[in-house]
Amino acid sequence: MILWLKAFHLISMVAWFAGLFYMFRLFVNRVENRNDPAVSDVLQGMATRLYRFIATPAMVATLGVGLAMLIAQPVYLTWGWVQLKLGLVAILVGYHLYVGRVLRRFATGDLYLTSRQCRIRNEIPTPLLILIVLLAVLRPGS
Ligand code: HEM
Repeated sequence: MILWLKAFHLISMVAWFAGLFYMFRLFVNRVENRNDPAVSDVLQGMATRLYRFIATPAMVATLGVGLAMLIAQPVYLTWGWVQLKLGLVAILVGYHLYVGRVLRRFATGDLYLTSRQCRIRNEIPTPLLILIVLLAVLRPGS
């Protein structure tokens, strides 16, 4: 049972990151094409659908299945690497919610970030992914 949960945990995690990695890439193009309403509309629509129909449901699934594993085997919570991982996951959820705020503001036409600022923000999920996967696979200290 736990192996099934783990498999779906990983599948939904990949889908979540596919969304997170692409959102600010779309915002970069949105900002750089601000004077072309047709392109802007397409990019805003793509970003809205990616966030609403892929990234957010995949996040809910990753967290839900992760919590199901904790409920199935509560001993996980006593391990330091799990506690650290959950802290990093909380930061990742904060990033996801921040992306949603930027999306809503861009939808009103308020492109308040430069394309360089969008590129920099796009790098944030990468170190979190590396750290979380290393913790989950190497399980330091256990
Ligand atoms: C509320 C959020 C989360 C909870 C409660 C959670 C919990 C868990 C648990 C209990 C396991 C099984 C550990 C094991 O038996 O090895 C696991 C595995 C794993 N988790 Fe998470 N997780 C969460 C979010 C994430 C996220 C966001 C990622 C990726 C960025 C992630 C990546 C992994 C990986 C790669 C494994 C497989 C480790 C292995 O089998 O070697 N988890 N998770």
